[in-house]
Formats: sequence, structure tokens, C-alpha cells
Amino acid sequence: MTAANIHAHKILILDYGSQYTQLIARRVREIGVYCEIFPWDSEQAEAFLPAAQGIILSGGPDSTTDQHTPTVPEYVLKAACPILGICYGMQALVSQLGGQVRPSAQREFGFAQITLNQECVLFAGLCDGRNAHGQSLLDVWMSHGDKVTAIPAGFECIASTPSAEFAVVAHQAKKIYGLQFHPEVTHTSKGREILSAFLFDVCSCTGDWTAGNIIEDQIKQVQTQLQDEHVILGLSGGVDSSVVAALLHKAIGDQLTCIFVDTGLLRLHEGDQVMQTFSQHMGVKVIRVNAEQRFLSALQGLHDPEEKRKTIGNLFVAIFEEEAAKIKDATWLAQGTIYPDVIESAAATTGKADLIKSHHNVGGLPDDMKLSLLEPLRELFKDEVRRLGDALELPREMIHRHPFPGPGLAVRILGEIRKEYCDILRAADDIFMQELHRHDLYDRVSQAFAVFLPVKSVGVMGDGRKYQYVIALRAVETIDFMTARWAHLPYEFLDLVSRRIINEIDGISRVAYDISGKPPATIEWE
Ligand code: XMP
Repeated sequence: MTAANIHAHKILILDYGSQYTQLIARRVREIGVYCEIFPWDSEQAEAFLPAAQGIILSGGPDSTTDQHTPTVPEYVLKAACPILGICYGMQALVSQLGGQVRPSAQREFGFAQITLNQECVLFAGLCDGRNAHGQSLLDVWMSHGDKVTAIPAGFECIASTPSAEFAVVAHQAKKIYGLQFHPEVTHTSKGREILSAFLFDVCSCTGDWTAGNIIEDQIKQVQTQLQDEHVILGLSGGVDSSVVAALLHKAIGDQLTCIFVDTGLLRLHEGDQVMQTFSQHMGVKVIRVNAEQRFLSALQGLHDPEEKRKTIGNLFVAIFEEEAAKIKDATWLAQGTIYPDVIESAAATTGKADLIKSHHNVGGLPDDMKLSLLEPLRELFKDEVRRLGDALELPREMIHRHPFPGPGLAVRILGEIRKEYCDILRAADDIFMQELHRHDLYDRVSQAFAVFLPVKSVGVMGDGRKYQYVIALRAVETIDFMTARWAHLPYEFLDLVSRRIINEIDGISRVAYDISGKPPATIEWE
């Protein structure tokens, strides 16, 4: 059997600045079709078009009723392939093709119901309910100020809401569709089916973009690219580097050497677990560098969070280079770069830097290492990396873990780092994690951890008053980590965790729960 060509069918997504653009791409890929995102005015998008089966225009914050707003490029309007415009993408299409868009007196934001009044391939067989006339109703998510008030020649009105007559429009012969609502968000109950219909029934894509096929494809690519050359990989125990390690091990076995720098700033037993999974269980060559002492010495006396971060980052690179230099025959350096990193650095070079989430990864390695870069996850979103991890049979707790910052516990101990603080924090954090898992709450929050506060607060233990340290618990719910709400964990649960921490850990007299949202507070305490 020949392997599926996972790139045979591609969708071009033009980004008009919507917060949901990456979500559109993730949904398209979940459905099994490869796609790439480009800024609406990028030249690379035009170069990509001949290979595309279809085009999706995202939403965006602008109004086509203003002057000098983003437009649909000429080459898209002339393209032979199907087009799906979403929200702003639809409005831009309609106004450029001769229709009309006007500011709406009533902003529509949130749930809405569209009434289908024409047959259309995107909605065949879909129905969330019916009105008195027997027409199908669909629950959708809207977020718009402007609306279409007149449609171009050749277009039909497919669906309406009480406040937007043209909620869905289409030129069915030319396969151009416009949706005022967002099919990519889960609140649109049949969003996945609508996108699937566009991809499969309109664009004739096949669903070959699956975890199994991606792994097979990558293994072949790496084997062809490398032949008998050797690769070094910095393994951190995080999702991305773990998946790269498992993938490369499958592709090239012993030609891969991983370097795992144990900073001493990891969670309880984490270093041992990394070694168990990769070295003992899978037989991957892993060099573990026990660098706790070096990190503690370098951090001694440092209080400023950014100074701590910098010190850790620099030392990490220095240690990695020392170890890498010992592996004489290596010519490649593998990295866990993923697609959002690629999009963000592209935005940085095109000046759309305000869209960028600043990420502060430790382990960014120097450019002057004389090694070629191997980035097998460059095309993948985080959820795709996780699916690969599952397909590669990596432990669930490693692949579906909350994010952990590069500088580790150092940004969860306020001020100076001492080994005693790290040990107390590790024990407290472990109790919190155990109970979150036991109560089925771990997967219901996006990130949870304990923070060590080096202040002494009074407690009465036995007969005496004791002044001991404070632990703060933090748990948040978020989609993108840019904004977050504190998780409303049950009081009984918090009570249990607090009692366990104070009773079981020597040195803690008080536990607090952080009820700050982001903004204004950040998720981490430093
Ligand atoms: P903040 O604290 O900025 O965190 O709200 C947002 C997300 O970023 C993570 N974070 C870091 N990750 N190095 C990292 O690799 C860091 O220095 C760092 N600081 C924050 C944080 O855990 C959260 O997921």
C-alpha cells in the first residue's frame, strides 16, 4: 500500500486579523485537510494559491464601510477554486463584488438562530430545530457590527436571522459562500459539519491529514533527509520535545541523542519520569545532566524575575552547548518548533507584531551552533502535536499536561531561589496535582500550580505559635493564555488540599487561593 500524500489537498486561509483565525485552521485540520494561514496581503499567499483546493477568508476587526480597509486580493476574486468568506471575509467579498455592507443599528454578539430559506450544499441535512413554516433553524455564534444589506448579482440569500437578512449568501454556480456567523467556534452547533461540507463536498478534498499519516510522512522525510547522520535534541519533558523525541526515535533510532538538562527546578519526580519514559521504556539515548547545583549557585542572591529568567536561559544554553560539543558526529539539531511559533515569527517580520504573544521560552538555542535545523513539528498546531503524541503511545500524563514555564519553579518561588523552597513547593504542588486528578478536575482547568511565598505567617500547631511559610494555589481557565479567569474550584476541594498541605508539609502554616483574573494579574506570579 502506498502512503497517503498528506499535502495532496490544501486550503489557503487568508487572515484578516480575527482572534479566531487559528481556530479556523485547527478545525480544518481536525476534519483532516491540510491548510496554511497567510496575512491577507502576503505575497506568499498568492504563490500558495495554485496548490489550493479552496480559499477561506477569516473574520477581522475592520469595517468595509471605512476607507483603506483590508480587501480581497484580485487573484482570489479571479481564482477558479471555491471561496468561503467568514464574517469580515464575507463582507469584503460582498462589497467588492457589487453588493452592499452597512453598519448595523443592532450589533449581534453571541448566540443567534439562522433560518434556512434556500437549499445549499453547506447545510444539506443540518437542522437544530424548525420554525412554524417547517424551515430548518441552526444555532450559530455571531460577532459583528456591520451587515450585508444587498447582495451582488448571481448571489442568493441562503439564510437569515431576525436582525440580519443576509446571514448566509452564496453564488452556488461559482462556489462562493459567505457566512456572517462563525462556523469555527464550538458554540455554532453544526460548525464542524458546515466546514466539512465546504471541504469535502465543495472543494473535493480527501481527509488524509490524520495523526497516523503525518507520522508516517515525517518518518519517511526524516529518513530520506538524514540517511546515516546524527541528531541532537534538547529534551525537556514538555509535550513538543517529547513528541519530537518519540518521532525521531521511530525514524532513526540510535542516530538520535537527547540531552535532558535537569535544572533542579522541575516538579516532583519529573526528571526520573522523563528518564523512565524515554530511556528505560523506549530505549531512546538520553544524556541526563544533573545541573541543580549549578542553577542554584547561579540564582543565589537574585531577586528580580527577569534577571532570574535570563540567568536560567543563559546557563541552560551553556550547559546544552557543553554537552552537545561532546557528541562529535552530530550534524543536526532537532527542535520542537510548532506552527503557531512560525506564524508569530512571520507576523514579527511583516510588522504585525502587535498580534504577537510574547513567549519567553527557555531553551532557545544559539544560532552559531554549526548544526542544521530539523523541525518535524513546524507544520503542526499544539492539539495536533498532542494527537501525534497519543498515536506514538507516549504517556497520557506527559502529553495532556498543563503548560509548564521554561524557567520552571523559579518563577513560582517569589524572589530568591533556595533548595529548601524548591522542595517545599514541589511537595505542595504535588498534593494539589494529586487531588485535582483524583477529583477529575485536572482536565477542567487550563493550568494549575502552587506558588511559594517566602513570608512567614503565624500558625498554631500543637501548643505553640509557629511562624512558617505561605503557599498560594493558582488555577485558571483560558483558551489562549492571553486572558484567563480564575477557576471556581469547589470549596470542599480547596479545603481538602489546604489541610493536606499544612498537615503533611513541614514549613507551611497557611494556604491561600488566588482569585485574580488575567488581566490585570498574570497567570504566573512572577
Ligand atoms: P503569564 O504569567 O504571562 O503566563 O500570564 C502565560 C503563559 O505563559 C507561561 N509562562 C512562561 N513560559 N517561560 C515559559 O516558557 C516563561 O518565562 C514564562 N512565563 C510565563 C505561563 O505558565 C502561562 O502558561
